[in-house]
Amino acid sequence: MDHFHLRDGELYAEDVPLARIAAEVGTPVYVYSRATLERHARVFKEALTPLGDPHLAFAVKANPNLAVLRVMQREGFGADVVSGGELARALAAGMPAEDVVFSGVGKQEYELIRGLDAGIGQFNLESEEEGVELAVLAEARGLRAPCALRVNPDVDAGTHDKISTGKADNKFGVPIGEAPAIYARLSAMPGLDMRGVAVHIGSQLSDLAPLERAFEKLGGLIASLRANGLKVSHADLGGGLGVPYKAGDVMPSPAEYGAMVARVTQGWDVRLMFEPGRVIAGNAGILLTKVVRVKRGIRDPFVIVDAAMNDLARPALYGSWHDFEAVRPSNKRMTANIVGPICETGDTFAMGRDIEGVEAGDLAVFRTAGAYGATMASSYNSRGFVAEVMVDGDKYAVVADRILPEEITAAERVPAWL
Ligand code: LLP
Repeated sequence: MDHFHLRDGELYAEDVPLARIAAEVGTPVYVYSRATLERHARVFKEALTPLGDPHLAFAVKANPNLAVLRVMQREGFGADVVSGGELARALAAGMPAEDVVFSGVGKQEYELIRGLDAGIGQFNLESEEEGVELAVLAEARGLRAPCALRVNPDVDAGTHDKISTGKADNKFGVPIGEAPAIYARLSAMPGLDMRGVAVHIGSQLSDLAPLERAFEKLGGLIASLRANGLKVSHADLGGGLGVPYKAGDVMPSPAEYGAMVARVTQGWDVRLMFEPGRVIAGNAGILLTKVVRVKRGIRDPFVIVDAAMNDLARPALYGSWHDFEAVRPSNKRMTANIVGPICETGDTFAMGRDIEGVEAGDLAVFRTAGAYGATMASSYNSRGFVAEVMVDGDKYAVVADRILPEEITAAERVPAWL
Protein backbone atom coordinates (compact mmCIF):
# COMPACT_ATOMS: atom_id res chain seq x y z
CA MET A 1 0.00 0.00 0.00
CA ASP A 2 1.28 3.45 -0.82
CA HIS A 3 0.25 7.05 -0.32
CA PHE A 4 -0.03 8.14 -3.96
CA HIS A 5 -3.75 8.43 -4.57
CA LEU A 6 -6.47 10.24 -6.44
CA ARG A 7 -8.29 12.99 -4.59
CA ASP A 8 -10.89 15.19 -6.28
CA GLY A 9 -9.84 13.91 -9.67
CA GLU A 10 -6.12 14.44 -9.33
CA LEU A 11 -3.15 12.49 -8.11
CA TYR A 12 -1.65 13.40 -4.75
CA ALA A 13 1.43 12.31 -2.86
CA GLU A 14 0.04 12.11 0.68
CA ASP A 15 -1.68 15.53 1.06
CA VAL A 16 0.29 17.33 -1.63
CA PRO A 17 -1.07 17.60 -5.19
CA LEU A 18 1.59 16.42 -7.62
CA ALA A 19 0.63 19.29 -9.92
CA ARG A 20 1.86 21.67 -7.22
CA ILE A 21 5.26 19.98 -7.08
CA ALA A 22 5.49 20.07 -10.88
CA ALA A 23 4.66 23.78 -10.91
CA GLU A 24 7.12 24.66 -8.15
CA VAL A 25 10.02 22.28 -8.79
CA GLY A 26 9.57 21.45 -12.46
CA THR A 27 9.61 18.11 -14.23
CA PRO A 28 10.86 15.48 -14.44
CA VAL A 29 11.14 15.01 -10.70
CA TYR A 30 11.22 12.02 -8.39
CA VAL A 31 8.72 12.24 -5.55
CA TYR A 32 9.05 10.08 -2.43
CA SER A 33 6.42 9.61 0.25
CA ARG A 34 7.78 9.53 3.78
CA ALA A 35 4.62 7.82 5.10
CA THR A 36 4.99 5.07 2.51
CA LEU A 37 8.65 4.48 3.37
CA GLU A 38 7.73 4.28 7.04
CA ARG A 39 4.81 2.00 6.40
CA HIS A 40 6.93 -0.42 4.37
CA ALA A 41 9.70 -0.33 6.96
CA ARG A 42 7.22 -1.15 9.72
CA VAL A 43 5.46 -3.91 7.79
CA PHE A 44 8.85 -5.49 7.10
CA LYS A 45 9.92 -5.19 10.74
CA GLU A 46 6.63 -6.65 11.97
CA ALA A 47 6.90 -9.56 9.56
CA LEU A 48 10.22 -10.45 11.15
CA THR A 49 9.20 -10.12 14.80
CA PRO A 50 8.98 -13.92 15.20
CA LEU A 51 12.73 -13.96 14.49
CA GLY A 52 13.71 -12.23 17.71
CA ASP A 53 15.91 -9.22 17.19
CA PRO A 54 17.10 -9.37 13.58
CA HIS A 55 19.54 -6.80 12.20
CA LEU A 56 17.93 -4.73 9.47
CA ALA A 57 20.15 -2.99 6.95
CA PHE A 58 18.52 -0.95 4.21
CA ALA A 59 20.19 -1.62 0.84
CA VAL A 60 21.47 1.87 0.12
CA LYS A 61 21.86 1.12 -3.58
CA ALA A 62 18.08 1.04 -3.92
CA ASN A 63 17.76 4.67 -2.90
CA PRO A 64 20.77 6.47 -1.46
CA ASN A 65 19.13 9.87 -1.04
CA LEU A 66 20.14 11.24 2.37
CA ALA A 67 16.58 12.07 3.37
CA VAL A 68 15.45 8.54 2.51
CA LEU A 69 18.35 7.13 4.54
CA ARG A 70 17.39 9.37 7.44
CA VAL A 71 13.86 7.98 7.40
CA MET A 72 15.30 4.47 7.48
CA GLN A 73 17.66 5.38 10.30
CA ARG A 74 14.72 6.73 12.32
CA GLU A 75 12.95 3.42 11.70
CA GLY A 76 15.87 1.61 13.29
CA PHE A 77 17.51 0.38 10.10
CA GLY A 78 21.22 0.24 9.51
CA ALA A 79 22.68 0.17 6.01
CA ASP A 80 23.92 -2.35 3.50
CA VAL A 81 26.56 -0.50 1.48
CA VAL A 82 28.66 -1.52 -1.51
CA SER A 83 31.10 1.37 -1.93
CA GLY A 84 32.99 4.03 -0.02
CA GLY A 85 30.43 6.52 -1.33
CA GLU A 86 27.51 4.57 0.09
CA LEU A 87 29.34 4.13 3.38
CA ALA A 88 29.83 7.90 3.61
CA ARG A 89 26.13 8.47 2.88
CA ALA A 90 25.00 6.00 5.54
CA LEU A 91 27.20 7.71 8.13
CA ALA A 92 26.10 11.17 6.97
CA ALA A 93 22.47 10.11 7.40
CA GLY A 94 23.22 9.28 11.03
CA MET A 95 23.36 5.51 10.82
CA PRO A 96 25.69 4.16 13.53
CA ALA A 97 28.81 2.58 12.00
CA GLU A 98 28.16 -0.66 13.87
CA ASP A 99 24.86 -0.97 11.97
CA VAL A 100 26.60 -0.87 8.59
CA VAL A 101 27.26 -4.00 6.54
CA PHE A 102 29.72 -3.67 3.65
CA SER A 103 28.99 -5.98 0.68
CA GLY A 104 30.40 -5.96 -2.85
CA VAL A 105 32.77 -8.03 -4.96
CA GLY A 106 35.22 -5.25 -5.74
CA LYS A 107 35.90 -3.44 -2.48
CA GLN A 108 39.13 -1.53 -2.99
CA GLU A 109 41.86 -1.07 -0.42
CA TYR A 110 40.81 2.49 0.40
CA GLU A 111 37.23 1.32 0.91
CA LEU A 112 38.26 -1.50 3.25
CA ILE A 113 40.34 1.04 5.20
CA ARG A 114 37.40 3.44 5.43
CA GLY A 115 35.22 0.64 6.73
CA LEU A 116 37.85 -0.30 9.33
CA ASP A 117 38.44 3.30 10.38
CA ALA A 118 34.72 3.91 10.75
CA GLY A 119 34.30 0.74 12.80
CA ILE A 120 31.52 -0.77 10.69
CA GLY A 121 29.56 -3.72 12.00
CA GLN A 122 30.36 -6.31 9.35
CA PHE A 123 32.27 -6.87 6.14
CA ASN A 124 30.59 -9.38 3.86
CA LEU A 125 33.61 -10.98 2.21
CA GLU A 126 33.01 -12.06 -1.36
CA SER A 127 36.28 -13.96 -1.84
CA GLU A 128 39.14 -15.45 0.10
CA GLU A 129 41.47 -12.94 -1.57
CA GLU A 130 39.45 -10.05 -0.17
CA GLY A 131 39.53 -11.63 3.30
CA VAL A 132 43.32 -11.98 3.22
CA GLU A 133 43.70 -8.35 2.14
CA LEU A 134 41.36 -7.12 4.86
CA ALA A 135 43.12 -9.25 7.50
CA VAL A 136 46.44 -7.58 6.73
CA LEU A 137 44.94 -4.09 6.84
CA ALA A 138 43.10 -4.80 10.10
CA GLU A 139 46.07 -6.39 11.84
CA ALA A 140 48.28 -3.44 10.92
CA ARG A 141 45.78 -1.26 12.78
CA GLY A 142 45.51 -3.58 15.76
CA LEU A 143 41.92 -4.43 14.80
CA ARG A 144 39.87 -7.56 14.20
CA ALA A 145 37.40 -6.95 11.40
CA PRO A 146 33.98 -8.50 11.99
CA CYS A 147 33.22 -10.56 8.88
CA ALA A 148 30.72 -12.83 7.23
CA LEU A 149 31.57 -14.99 4.23
CA ARG A 150 29.15 -14.53 1.35
CA VAL A 151 28.42 -17.82 -0.33
CA ASN A 152 27.08 -18.52 -3.78
CA PRO A 153 24.50 -21.27 -3.25
CA ASP A 154 24.01 -22.00 -6.97
CA VAL A 155 20.28 -21.37 -6.88
CA ASP A 156 18.42 -19.83 -9.79
CA ALA A 157 16.34 -17.02 -8.33
CA GLY A 158 14.02 -17.05 -11.33
CA THR A 159 14.38 -13.31 -11.88
CA HIS A 160 15.85 -11.22 -14.72
CA ASP A 161 19.33 -12.51 -15.62
CA LYS A 162 20.94 -9.12 -14.99
CA ILE A 163 19.77 -9.03 -11.38
CA SER A 164 20.30 -12.67 -10.51
CA THR A 165 23.28 -13.16 -8.19
CA GLY A 166 23.16 -16.69 -6.76
CA LYS A 167 23.93 -18.92 -9.74
CA ALA A 168 27.30 -20.69 -9.88
CA ASP A 169 28.50 -18.58 -12.80
CA ASN A 170 27.55 -15.24 -11.17
CA LYS A 171 30.45 -13.25 -9.77
CA PHE A 172 29.13 -13.07 -6.22
CA GLY A 173 30.31 -14.93 -3.12
CA VAL A 174 32.39 -18.10 -2.91
CA PRO A 175 31.06 -21.44 -4.16
CA ILE A 176 29.18 -23.00 -1.26
CA GLY A 177 31.18 -26.24 -1.62
CA GLU A 178 34.43 -24.37 -1.02
CA ALA A 179 33.05 -22.26 1.83
CA PRO A 180 34.02 -24.61 4.73
CA ALA A 181 37.71 -24.63 3.78
CA ILE A 182 37.81 -20.88 3.06
CA TYR A 183 35.96 -20.05 6.28
CA ALA A 184 38.40 -22.19 8.27
CA ARG A 185 41.45 -20.53 6.71
CA LEU A 186 40.04 -17.02 7.23
CA SER A 187 39.05 -17.85 10.83
CA ALA A 188 42.68 -18.55 11.58
CA MET A 189 43.73 -15.01 10.61
CA PRO A 190 44.22 -12.71 13.61
CA GLY A 191 42.94 -9.67 11.70
CA LEU A 192 39.51 -11.21 11.10
CA ASP A 193 36.66 -12.05 13.41
CA MET A 194 34.79 -14.56 11.23
CA ARG A 195 31.33 -14.50 12.73
CA GLY A 196 28.94 -15.59 10.05
CA VAL A 197 27.73 -16.36 6.58
CA ALA A 198 25.77 -14.35 4.03
CA VAL A 199 23.68 -15.05 0.96
CA HIS A 200 21.78 -12.93 -1.57
CA ILE A 201 20.51 -14.68 -4.69
CA GLY A 202 18.92 -11.83 -6.62
CA SER A 203 16.42 -9.02 -6.70
CA GLN A 204 12.72 -8.63 -7.58
CA LEU A 205 12.00 -12.25 -6.60
CA SER A 206 8.40 -13.19 -7.19
CA ASP A 207 8.66 -16.66 -5.69
CA LEU A 208 9.87 -17.61 -2.22
CA ALA A 209 10.91 -21.15 -3.22
CA PRO A 210 14.42 -20.29 -4.54
CA LEU A 211 15.06 -18.19 -1.43
CA GLU A 212 13.99 -21.10 0.73
CA ARG A 213 16.37 -23.45 -1.13
CA ALA A 214 19.24 -21.00 -0.69
CA PHE A 215 18.51 -20.60 3.03
CA GLU A 216 18.32 -24.37 3.49
CA LYS A 217 21.76 -24.69 1.91
CA LEU A 218 23.03 -21.96 4.20
CA GLY A 219 21.63 -23.84 7.21
CA GLY A 220 23.55 -26.93 6.09
CA LEU A 221 26.72 -24.88 5.80
CA ILE A 222 26.30 -23.40 9.29
CA ALA A 223 25.94 -26.91 10.71
CA SER A 224 29.06 -28.16 8.95
CA LEU A 225 31.10 -25.11 9.99
CA ARG A 226 30.13 -25.69 13.59
CA ALA A 227 30.89 -29.40 13.29
CA ASN A 228 34.40 -28.27 12.32
CA GLY A 229 34.61 -26.23 15.51
CA LEU A 230 34.14 -22.85 13.81
CA LYS A 231 32.13 -19.99 15.28
CA VAL A 232 28.97 -18.84 13.49
CA SER A 233 26.91 -16.25 15.35
CA HIS A 234 25.37 -14.33 12.42
CA ALA A 235 23.58 -15.20 9.19
CA ASP A 236 22.83 -12.48 6.65
CA LEU A 237 19.94 -13.47 4.37
CA GLY A 238 20.27 -10.49 2.00
CA GLY A 239 17.35 -8.78 0.30
CA GLY A 240 15.50 -9.59 -2.88
CA LEU A 241 11.80 -9.56 -2.11
CA GLY A 242 9.88 -8.47 -5.20
CA VAL A 243 7.24 -5.73 -5.39
CA PRO A 244 4.22 -5.31 -7.67
CA TYR A 245 5.06 -3.07 -10.64
CA LYS A 246 1.80 -3.64 -12.46
CA ALA A 247 -1.51 -2.85 -10.78
CA GLY A 248 -2.93 -6.23 -9.81
CA ASP A 249 0.41 -8.08 -9.62
CA VAL A 250 0.60 -10.28 -6.56
CA MET A 251 3.94 -10.75 -4.84
CA PRO A 252 4.88 -12.73 -1.75
CA SER A 253 4.12 -10.54 1.24
CA PRO A 254 6.69 -9.67 3.89
CA ALA A 255 4.57 -11.75 6.30
CA GLU A 256 4.84 -14.83 4.07
CA TYR A 257 8.55 -14.19 3.72
CA GLY A 258 8.95 -13.85 7.51
CA ALA A 259 7.05 -17.08 8.11
CA MET A 260 9.21 -18.94 5.58
CA VAL A 261 12.39 -17.58 7.15
CA ALA A 262 11.18 -18.54 10.64
CA ARG A 263 10.48 -22.08 9.45
CA VAL A 264 13.79 -22.58 7.66
CA THR A 265 16.04 -20.95 10.24
CA GLN A 266 14.54 -22.67 13.27
CA GLY A 267 17.32 -23.87 15.55
CA TRP A 268 20.09 -21.97 13.73
CA ASP A 269 20.96 -20.09 16.91
CA VAL A 270 22.33 -17.03 15.12
CA ARG A 271 21.42 -13.38 14.85
CA LEU A 272 19.68 -13.05 11.51
CA MET A 273 20.45 -10.08 9.29
CA PHE A 274 18.49 -8.69 6.32
CA GLU A 275 19.25 -6.25 3.50
CA PRO A 276 15.93 -5.18 1.96
CA GLY A 277 15.93 -2.42 -0.62
CA ARG A 278 13.19 -2.48 -3.22
CA VAL A 279 10.46 -3.81 -0.93
CA ILE A 280 10.87 -0.71 1.23
CA ALA A 281 11.53 2.00 -1.36
CA GLY A 282 10.08 0.78 -4.66
CA ASN A 283 6.49 1.81 -4.23
CA ALA A 284 7.40 4.78 -2.04
CA GLY A 285 8.44 6.82 -5.07
CA ILE A 286 7.18 7.95 -8.45
CA LEU A 287 8.75 9.80 -11.34
CA LEU A 288 6.64 12.81 -12.23
CA THR A 289 6.87 13.81 -15.86
CA LYS A 290 5.19 16.07 -18.42
CA VAL A 291 3.94 15.12 -21.85
CA VAL A 292 6.02 17.11 -24.37
CA ARG A 293 3.80 16.20 -27.30
CA VAL A 294 1.78 13.39 -28.78
CA LYS A 295 3.04 12.34 -32.18
CA ARG A 296 1.07 10.32 -34.70
CA GLY A 297 2.48 6.84 -35.32
CA ILE A 298 1.95 4.24 -38.03
CA ARG A 299 -0.01 2.20 -35.52
CA ASP A 300 -0.21 3.81 -32.12
CA PRO A 301 0.64 7.39 -31.26
CA PHE A 302 3.88 8.19 -29.43
CA VAL A 303 3.39 9.91 -26.11
CA ILE A 304 6.70 11.75 -25.75
CA VAL A 305 7.39 12.64 -22.12
CA ASP A 306 10.11 14.85 -20.65
CA ALA A 307 11.56 11.97 -18.60
CA ALA A 308 13.91 9.61 -20.41
CA MET A 309 16.03 6.51 -20.04
CA ASN A 310 18.76 8.58 -18.42
CA ASP A 311 16.35 9.46 -15.57
CA LEU A 312 14.72 6.03 -15.20
CA ALA A 313 16.93 3.37 -16.75
CA ARG A 314 15.02 0.23 -15.74
CA PRO A 315 12.78 -0.18 -18.81
CA ALA A 316 15.74 0.27 -21.18
CA LEU A 317 18.04 -1.98 -19.12
CA TYR A 318 15.72 -4.77 -18.06
CA GLY A 319 12.63 -4.26 -20.18
CA SER A 320 10.79 -3.57 -16.96
CA TRP A 321 7.26 -2.34 -16.62
CA HIS A 322 6.31 0.84 -14.73
CA ASP A 323 2.65 1.78 -14.52
CA PHE A 324 1.96 5.11 -16.22
CA GLU A 325 -0.86 7.24 -14.83
CA ALA A 326 -2.14 10.68 -15.68
CA VAL A 327 -2.06 13.16 -12.81
CA ARG A 328 -5.48 14.44 -13.88
CA PRO A 329 -7.21 11.43 -15.45
CA SER A 330 -9.39 12.41 -18.40
CA ASN A 331 -11.54 9.28 -18.23
CA LYS A 332 -10.69 8.71 -21.88
CA ARG A 333 -8.41 5.84 -22.86
CA MET A 334 -5.79 5.54 -25.56
CA THR A 335 -3.30 2.96 -26.71
CA ALA A 336 0.12 4.52 -27.04
CA ASN A 337 3.86 4.07 -27.10
CA ILE A 338 5.42 5.99 -24.23
CA VAL A 339 8.86 7.28 -25.05
CA GLY A 340 11.42 9.81 -23.86
CA PRO A 341 13.27 12.42 -25.92
CA ILE A 342 16.62 10.57 -26.07
CA CYS A 343 18.03 9.65 -29.44
CA GLU A 344 17.85 5.91 -29.29
CA THR A 345 15.01 3.47 -29.59
CA GLY A 346 15.92 2.01 -26.19
CA ASP A 347 14.44 5.18 -24.72
CA THR A 348 11.03 3.54 -24.66
CA PHE A 349 8.98 3.12 -21.49
CA ALA A 350 6.15 1.13 -23.04
CA MET A 351 4.84 0.00 -26.42
CA GLY A 352 1.18 -0.40 -27.27
CA ARG A 353 0.17 0.40 -23.69
CA ASP A 354 -3.46 1.05 -22.81
CA ILE A 355 -3.35 4.30 -20.80
CA GLU A 356 -5.50 7.24 -19.84
CA GLY A 357 -5.76 9.72 -22.67
CA VAL A 358 -3.10 12.42 -22.39
CA GLU A 359 -2.19 15.48 -24.41
CA ALA A 360 0.77 17.82 -24.69
CA GLY A 361 1.32 19.59 -21.38
CA ASP A 362 -0.39 16.96 -19.24
CA LEU A 363 1.36 15.60 -16.18
CA ALA A 364 1.79 11.89 -15.60
CA VAL A 365 3.74 9.56 -13.34
CA PHE A 366 5.76 6.41 -13.68
CA ARG A 367 5.01 4.41 -10.60
CA THR A 368 7.26 2.21 -8.48
CA ALA A 369 10.26 4.42 -9.15
CA GLY A 370 11.44 4.80 -5.55
CA ALA A 371 14.02 2.01 -5.86
CA TYR A 372 16.73 1.88 -8.52
CA GLY A 373 15.33 5.06 -10.04
CA ALA A 374 17.17 8.34 -9.45
CA THR A 375 20.23 6.44 -8.30
CA MET A 376 20.72 4.85 -11.73
CA ALA A 377 20.39 8.14 -13.62
CA SER A 378 23.01 9.37 -16.05
CA SER A 379 23.46 12.59 -18.00
CA TYR A 380 23.24 10.93 -21.42
CA ASN A 381 22.32 13.29 -24.24
CA SER A 382 23.62 16.09 -22.00
CA ARG A 383 20.52 16.03 -19.92
CA GLY A 384 20.91 16.98 -16.27
CA PHE A 385 20.10 14.97 -13.18
CA VAL A 386 16.49 15.24 -12.04
CA ALA A 387 15.49 16.74 -8.73
CA GLU A 388 14.13 14.62 -5.89
CA VAL A 389 11.37 15.64 -3.50
CA MET A 390 10.11 14.09 -0.29
CA VAL A 391 6.52 14.60 0.80
CA ASP A 392 5.49 14.43 4.45
CA GLY A 393 1.77 14.96 4.99
CA ASP A 394 0.87 18.36 3.58
CA LYS A 395 4.43 19.57 3.19
CA TYR A 396 7.28 18.67 0.91
CA ALA A 397 10.97 19.44 0.53
CA VAL A 398 13.42 19.24 -2.33
CA VAL A 399 15.81 16.55 -1.08
CA ALA A 400 18.10 16.64 -4.12
CA ASP A 401 18.56 19.66 -6.34
CA ARG A 402 18.20 19.34 -10.05
CA ILE A 403 21.69 19.31 -11.58
CA LEU A 404 21.62 21.32 -14.77
CA PRO A 405 23.52 20.33 -17.92
CA GLU A 406 25.57 23.54 -17.55
CA GLU A 407 26.74 22.41 -14.11
CA ILE A 408 27.98 19.15 -15.57
CA THR A 409 29.72 20.96 -18.41
CA ALA A 410 31.36 23.25 -15.87
CA ALA A 411 33.32 20.25 -14.53
CA GLU A 412 34.87 19.64 -17.95
CA ARG A 413 38.06 21.21 -19.30
CA VAL A 414 39.45 21.75 -22.77
CA PRO A 415 43.23 21.41 -22.35
CA ALA A 416 45.34 24.41 -23.33
CA TRP A 417 47.07 22.36 -26.06
CA LEU A 418 43.84 21.81 -27.94
N1 LLP B 1 21.94 -7.13 -0.74
C1 LLP B 1 22.77 -7.32 -1.77
C2 LLP B 1 24.06 -7.96 -1.54
C3 LLP B 1 22.40 -6.90 -3.06
O1 LLP B 1 23.22 -7.11 -4.09
C4 LLP B 1 21.14 -6.28 -3.25
C5 LLP B 1 20.72 -5.82 -4.59
C6 LLP B 1 20.31 -6.09 -2.14
C7 LLP B 1 20.74 -6.54 -0.89
C8 LLP B 1 18.96 -5.43 -2.22
O2 LLP B 1 18.10 -6.16 -3.00
P1 LLP B 1 16.55 -5.77 -3.08
O3 LLP B 1 15.92 -6.05 -1.73
O4 LLP B 1 16.44 -4.36 -3.44
O5 LLP B 1 16.02 -6.67 -4.14
N2 LLP B 1 19.10 -2.24 -10.52
C9 LLP B 1 18.29 -3.45 -10.44
C10 LLP B 1 18.40 -4.13 -9.09
C11 LLP B 1 19.81 -4.52 -8.70
C12 LLP B 1 19.88 -5.17 -7.33
C13 LLP B 1 21.28 -5.38 -6.92
N3 LLP B 1 21.46 -5.94 -5.62
C14 LLP B 1 16.85 -3.09 -10.78
O6 LLP B 1 16.56 -1.93 -11.05
O7 LLP B 1 15.99 -3.96 -10.81
